Amino acid sequence: MSKQILETQRLILREFVADDIDDLARIISDAETMKYYPDPFDRHGVEEWIARNRRRYTAHGHGLWAMILKSSGELIGDCGITVQPVDGVQEKEIGYHLRRDCWKQGFAIEAARACRDYGFSTFPVKKLISLIRPDNLPSRRVAERNGMKIWKETLHKDLPHLVYVIERSEFQRLKGPAVISEA
Ligand SMILES: CC(C)(COP(=O)(O)OP(=O)(O)OC[C@H]1O[C@@H](n2cnc3c(N)ncnc32)[C@H](O)[C@@H]1OP(=O)(O)O)[C@@H](O)C(=O)NCCC(=O)NCCS
Repeated sequence: MSKQILETQRLILREFVADDIDDLARIISDAETMKYYPDPFDRHGVEEWIARNRRRYTAHGHGLWAMILKSSGELIGDCGITVQPVDGVQEKEIGYHLRRDCWKQGFAIEAARACRDYGFSTFPVKKLISLIRPDNLPSRRVAERNGMKIWKETLHKDLPHLVYVIERSEFQRLKGPAVISEA
């Protein structure tokens, strides 16, 4: 049994389990989907990816979660919150990857917004970030639609990245007075 974390209009985000390997491989082993990464993941890499996220659930209470399309029950991507070093400081990062045939239907932004809301209401963070390669325009657009702005540039895993950020104060402004008491 895998633990459900979030539900949106069209999606469920739940913890990954070892059995997700084939569905996840269709996403993160795809060369086009992973073109902003050094390489697509091979089978062993996909297995390790699931194990790494399961360790994150235990260590941090969050990680990348499986994105399930409610209408079909299919696993179509991942979205979630991981801890990433930025210039030596550990930050909570919202990340996402989607199966190619599901792009441009608003799924990434739907999931990313849910993770942003969950992140600010669950963890006492001042900010949430997304680390994005400058030429990854779809991902930059998701971050912008998620209320984020460019904070700075950094080297992440030896590659130039933009650090997108949303501060808690900006999140509260976006959401209105209702969330202020949750901070
Ligand atoms: C990034 C990614 C998850 C976006 O998924 P998506 O579901 O297509 O995004 P959405 O449908 O929610 O669209 C969000 C915005 O991005 C825009 N967008 C999507 N694909 C785009 C493209 N190829 N070029 C330009 N804009 C694009 C959408 O139009 C939308 O903006 P709008 O509301 O102003 O029209 C998907 O492209 C992907 O999986 N990429 C590969 C993995 C990756 O790079 N992940 C991010 C690592 S930082």
